[in-house]
Amino acid sequence: MKGIILAGGTGTRLLPLTAVTSKQLLPVYDRPMVFYPLNTLISAGIRDILLVVSPANSGDYLNLLGSMFRKYDVRISFVVQKRPAGLPEAFILGEDFLDGGPVTLVLGDNIFEDDFSLAIQSFQSGGRIFAKEVVDPERFGVVEFDADGKVLSLEEKPAHPKSRFAIPGAYIFDGNVSEIAKHLTPSERGELEIVDIHKQYFTEGVLDVRTITGAWFDTGTHEALLAASVYAKEHRLAEKFHPIINEAIQEFNAEFKKSVSLSK
Ligand code: DAU
Repeated sequence: MKGIILAGGTGTRLLPLTAVTSKQLLPVYDRPMVFYPLNTLISAGIRDILLVVSPANSGDYLNLLGSMFRKYDVRISFVVQKRPAGLPEAFILGEDFLDGGPVTLVLGDNIFEDDFSLAIQSFQSGGRIFAKEVVDPERFGVVEFDADGKVLSLEEKPAHPKSRFAIPGAYIFDGNVSEIAKHLTPSERGELEIVDIHKQYFTEGVLDVRTITGAWFDTGTHEALLAASVYAKEHRLAEKFHPIINEAIQEFNAEFKKSVSLSK
């Protein structure tokens, strides 16, 4: 299983915070946001991770993560997405990286409290996505269930949601996903839509949807970004990161301080 983190996009909803840096490098309390999706993947045992970044911010990601994990058997690769053409482009840009194998995609602006180890390690084939009950489902992809928990419908940001179950930004797909992504057509807003991938697996009868119960934030708005920071502080989320991440950050900080004092 390999991992992809989508850390591109324009972040216009968070301007001016995102005018000179990437949304996924903004702080969530005491860590740049991107460490949260990294933790989601590394905690689940994934050691090969591709970061999709925008041209303007690729240097920042390289400076931060380019060699941070070199001692830890975690390989971070980068690919530049020229323009934000939609989430499924991750599987097209990442086709060679995936080499026909399964993938977990985590959106770079999604903060999860849940541990996905079981869901990822038990994955065999098809697609596995998640559902989380929220008060504002119209902001998200929405999944509707029948009384027995069987999926009835999947919609992207419906004006009139048929359920309160949002689809958070963590998706597990088998090796067919790049081919599926390549055959999608852009929606009315001109983007490839992740919900069309869900629908394809659903139509084939191989989409598994599991509910999650831990806290989840899509930090795409100022309010949500603040709420995520407050939650991360109060629940000490970063202290619970996989040890690899916190050790690598400590070493990075020490090396950084050393290089600053040498240059004085
Ligand atoms: O957060 C969960 C939601 O994420 C899902 O419920 C929706 O189904 C899904 O479409 C997505 O909706 P958003 O409107 O939140 O997506 P957004 O455009 O904010 O992009 C999510 C992340 O992916 C963000 O960190 C930016 C990055 N991104 C986005 C696009 C469109 C890229 O790196 N490249 C892209 O082309």
